[in-house]
Amino acid sequence: MVPPVQSFWNPINITVTMNVLAILGVDEKAQTMTLFISQYLTWRIDGLHWSERDCGTKRVSVSRENLWIPDIHISEFMDEDNSPQNMHVFLYNTGLVFDSKSIRVVTSCQLDIYPFPFDVQNCSLTFRSYLHQDSEIKLIQGATSEETLEVSRKLIQTNGEWELVDIKVTPSVLKLNGGSYSEMKYYIVLKRQPMLYVVNLLIPSCFLITVDLFSFLLPPQSVDRASFKMTLILGYTVFLLIMNDLLPVSGQTTPLINVFFSISLALMVASLLETIFITNIQFTSSQYSTVPRWLSILVLRYLALAVCLPTQKKSNRITVSLQPPKELQIHNPISNSLVNSCNISEDKPPPDPHQHLLDELRKLSKDLIAIRLHMDNHFKGTKTSQEWYMIGIVVDRLLFAIYIIFILASFLAITCIWIWSDSL
Ligand SMILES: *[C@@H]1O[C@H](CO)[C@@H](O)[C@H](O)[C@H]1NC(C)=O
Ligand SMILES: *[C@@H]1O[C@H](CO)[C@@H](O)[C@H](O)[C@H]1NC(C)=O
Repeated sequence: MVPPVQSFWNPINITVTMNVLAILGVDEKAQTMTLFISQYLTWRIDGLHWSERDCGTKRVSVSRENLWIPDIHISEFMDEDNSPQNMHVFLYNTGLVFDSKSIRVVTSCQLDIYPFPFDVQNCSLTFRSYLHQDSEIKLIQGATSEETLEVSRKLIQTNGEWELVDIKVTPSVLKLNGGSYSEMKYYIVLKRQPMLYVVNLLIPSCFLITVDLFSFLLPPQSVDRASFKMTLILGYTVFLLIMNDLLPVSGQTTPLINVFFSISLALMVASLLETIFITNIQFTSSQYSTVPRWLSILVLRYLALAVCLPTQKKSNRITVSLQPPKELQIHNPISNSLVNSCNISEDKPPPDPHQHLLDELRKLSKDLIAIRLHMDNHFKGTKTSQEWYMIGIVVDRLLFAIYIIFILASFLAITCIWIWSDSL
């Protein structure tokens, strides 16, 4: 019932060896990691030995209750231990005791999910005695880090989405309440397999953003670009709702992938707003006002050059120059000849019908002037609307370029962060 040492001045040396058998999971919300490990403890009972020849065996199994067993436990342990209990330990004829058991450990672990799904987790398992201090129990490293990693890699049965990258063993001493406790720390480094998330989350998201990008090529007037973009946003929202289960939740940090989704959604909304703006410029502005001169010069002369659109061409329609209506106009040679020709065709007595014809012609000329005025107003209207239309096209091109630059910059930045955290 007491530590099996000859002198209580000497600490009892306990050799600790641990191997990972399975990685059962990582819970981001609870900040825990679940592992299945095998733990081996060996120590020596001072003064106990027997001769193999006389007794016929080198080792016997002894019930746990009949021996002093050290109270080694894992200090990050969060759950009750419901792994199968081993009732016996082995006792060797040299006095060595060998205690082996498998434990399902749920350990608390500070998880860093910012670079999800390219995250690497570094969790520790600390073996130490619950009660006995440094001077009573001393923990000794049973296997080097490399051996532990190699054996664990061989033994591992299931690793789900996690890959065991590294195991590091370091003995240390914990100073607590004036006493010091001997500890054995295992750092277990796990890396998430990102394929599932890349295929299910990132690639579809990139597809949708690409479609949104290419929808800028639709002319806003013939196909309804705005409603097309609206449909895209709706589709993206549904996609996010469905895929929400795959995302890790944690109160502490927002994973970068959430930022990625937010940026994607924001870009889609921005491009929808842009389309509304352009449509407004092209089809509504012309009804209210003509293009201000500075705007016309700025956009059609300079911005158009900047976005590689040919500057405003001279329209090839014939501009009708309007002279103020004059009574004299009727007396030009053409009118006279017309009158003459009419005169010839009509073939009626000269004086009176002449006067009648002149009146008719005056009326006609008035009508013509009215038509001219109307046409001119119409052409003026078309001119402003065409100018607004051109401005719309130039601004659309400009915002499209800005949109592309912004998409490229933000996606490059996010990819760089991911690559950088992946290489850690
Ligand atoms: C434990 O190991 C130390 C050396 O590391 C040794 O001096 C000491 O005697 C050992 N104790 C027992 C009980 O074997
Ligand atoms: C894990 O964390 C420990 C302590 O913070 C550190 O010493 C060790 O280098 C880390 N391992 C890796 C692979 O980051």
